[in-house]
Amino acid sequence: MNGVKPGPDHVGPESAGLESVAELPRLASSTNGRYWVLPSQVWMADGLSAVQRACFPDLSEAELMGPEHFRAQLQIFPEGQFAVWDSLEGRVAASSTDLILDIDFARYAHPYMEEVGDNTLSTHQPQGRWLYGADIGVHPDYRGQGLSTLLYSARQALVRRLKLRGHAAGAMPKGYSRHAQVMPIEEYVHRVVLNELQDPVLSVQLKRHYRVWGIIPDYLDDASCCNYGVFIVWRNPDLGWPEKMGWPEQARA
Ligand SMILES: CC(C)(COP(=O)(O)OP(=O)(O)OC[C@H]1O[C@@H](n2cnc3c(N)ncnc32)[C@H](O)[C@@H]1OP(=O)(O)O)[C@@H](O)C(=O)NCCC(=O)NCCS
Repeated sequence: MNGVKPGPDHVGPESAGLESVAELPRLASSTNGRYWVLPSQVWMADGLSAVQRACFPDLSEAELMGPEHFRAQLQIFPEGQFAVWDSLEGRVAASSTDLILDIDFARYAHPYMEEVGDNTLSTHQPQGRWLYGADIGVHPDYRGQGLSTLLYSARQALVRRLKLRGHAAGAMPKGYSRHAQVMPIEEYVHRVVLNELQDPVLSVQLKRHYRVWGIIPDYLDDASCCNYGVFIVWRNPDLGWPEKMGWPEQARA
């Protein structure tokens, strides 16, 4: 395990008046019962930050979320922040960060930091219509065990509970840098969608029923995806197709 175990100055659930983490509402659990999806807590900020650092080794320092960002996010939109807790090791294994936005799908190509208010979620629009994914990360020690699947399910359940139109996000196509010399980003994304190429991020999201809306140049500063983002969308199935809903043209995205 890589350095995210609680240290001697660890702040735990007792700082929030809880006897144990088991007292928190459990939004979902892995089938073996070891991993619990919980609402992120202020006392988890250091653990969330450690997961973030391990997940985004190529991201610029200015774009990484630190403990202060997680604390700010929990002030602004606590319902949208999830952690996966490893009940065996007593540590945060994964997390996701979301906010609500009104999205103009004709002008979706915004830089990451602009969308997420420099990681503080100050751009959150409580009356907006879309959940927007600011972040998802599973610590490398825990990959391939379905933890991101638990988090995507929790986010989609939140969309349905809040009766939002869907979940949108800028995905990081982290496999692109290995192909950038031989094909443009459009071809790479197209081939990932066709399942001819596997991308360590976009392929995971396609499996969770997200679909590609477009490509965002200069999305963030990360060499693994050559700074590109891929705008992806999952629609709330409870709302049916926009044409049947009688939505105005500009809201059909
Ligand atoms: C992308 C990430 C969140 C996936 O987390 P994970 O918990 O390992 O994913 P899961 O175990 O839930 O796997 C989900 C599905 O994707 C598949 N998958 C996982 N990693 C994959 C990869 N590298 N390439 C292709 N498919 C992959 C799994 O086989 C599984 O498929 P299934 O539903 O058919 O069984 C994780 O790799 C990560 O944190 N990466 C670094 C941070 C990051 O880039 N976040 C995204 C920012 S946009």
